[in-house]
Amino acid sequence: MLDKKYLYTPGPTPIPPQVTAAMARPMIGHRGQEFAGLHGEIVEKAKVIFQTTNDLYVLTTSGTGGLETAIANTVTPGDRVLALVTGNFGERFAKLASTYGGLVTKLEFPWGTTINMEQVDEVWKAKGPFKLVLATHNETSTGVTNDIAALGEYFANTESLLLVDAVSSMGAMDIRTDEWHVDIMVTGSQKALMLPPGLALISVSPKAWPIIEANSGVRFYFSLLEARKSFDQCNTPWTPAVALFYGLDAALDLILAEGLDNVFQRHARMAAAVRAGARALGLGLLADDSVASHTVTAVLPDLDIGTDTLSKILQEDMGVMFAGGQGQLRGRLLRIGHMGYCSELDVLMAIAALEMALYKAGIAIDLGAGVKAAEALLCIPEA
Ligand SMILES: Cc1ncc(COP(=O)(O)O)c(C=O)c1O
Repeated sequence: MLDKKYLYTPGPTPIPPQVTAAMARPMIGHRGQEFAGLHGEIVEKAKVIFQTTNDLYVLTTSGTGGLETAIANTVTPGDRVLALVTGNFGERFAKLASTYGGLVTKLEFPWGTTINMEQVDEVWKAKGPFKLVLATHNETSTGVTNDIAALGEYFANTESLLLVDAVSSMGAMDIRTDEWHVDIMVTGSQKALMLPPGLALISVSPKAWPIIEANSGVRFYFSLLEARKSFDQCNTPWTPAVALFYGLDAALDLILAEGLDNVFQRHARMAAAVRAGARALGLGLLADDSVASHTVTAVLPDLDIGTDTLSKILQEDMGVMFAGGQGQLRGRLLRIGHMGYCSELDVLMAIAALEMALYKAGIAIDLGAGVKAAEALLCIPEA
């Protein structure tokens, strides 16, 4: 078999050649003017994608490190925290807060569904106020997108800070950090930002700074006060992953050149096509259309053969990587990532591969039905 890999995991994602080439540039010292110039430009471009005028920092760490930064800088032991949990990554955010000594009230929603504002209201009235509210914009483990605008509106006039994990959606979906009143927004590099793992980006609102300054909890590498001090000279407190910064600069240029609206629409089209394709093959979908993520689709095959068998055929016979289920959905899901450097044609290939895997596994399907259904959505001429 030709040794070619097709990566459809919801992170890491494929890297555009322009980004790979940028990362191969000669190394520079990170305390010089050249790095400072690059860093300053990156931050300005990233703010466009975050749709924010807040301060923004690029951290050398993975997405979880970005979330830990958000927590380490705002949670003093004993603080009251409301964690809105719609899946595995919401769980992780809650766990981070309790690890730092937060007194966490977890409001959990069935996996595959989204945050319900009526329940948020009930908890706030019964148990509030909370210093922090934690939410996941795009829950990668279940393929749902939460309505952060509604949350932001609810908490904007309270004392609470709203901390949002947008690790698997920033750069692919319309995320309005300022309009939605998000105090701390976090993303990671290896998803829609089209980079290898290793960077996290975090924005901080004026409402959050006094809390961060007053926080007496422990932090060192993840100190936002240190990041802010260094950024006065467009620097970083510790050695940054310079090659990834080169790559980020190139990736942000690609996103801005395509245009944010075009990027958002491409992701919406790809998500709709994957869902139509899976349905046409008789497969279930975990999330309802109205809340389905544009970057990852959670397919619930519910067949006699397990998803592990299908994944094995996909990987070993075709070099195709989907992700499986996590936590309580382990062994039940196939998660197909369609974000970042992913085109409509790539999505058709994913559906074609899924069809072939089902066929090879002996499942009676109408070969071509999935691709046809997906194609029908992608062929609609642009207005
Ligand atoms: C929504 C979400 N949050 C957090 C993370 C954790 O990021 P990382 O694996 O880069 O630490 C991920 C990674 O898949 C994610 O999808």
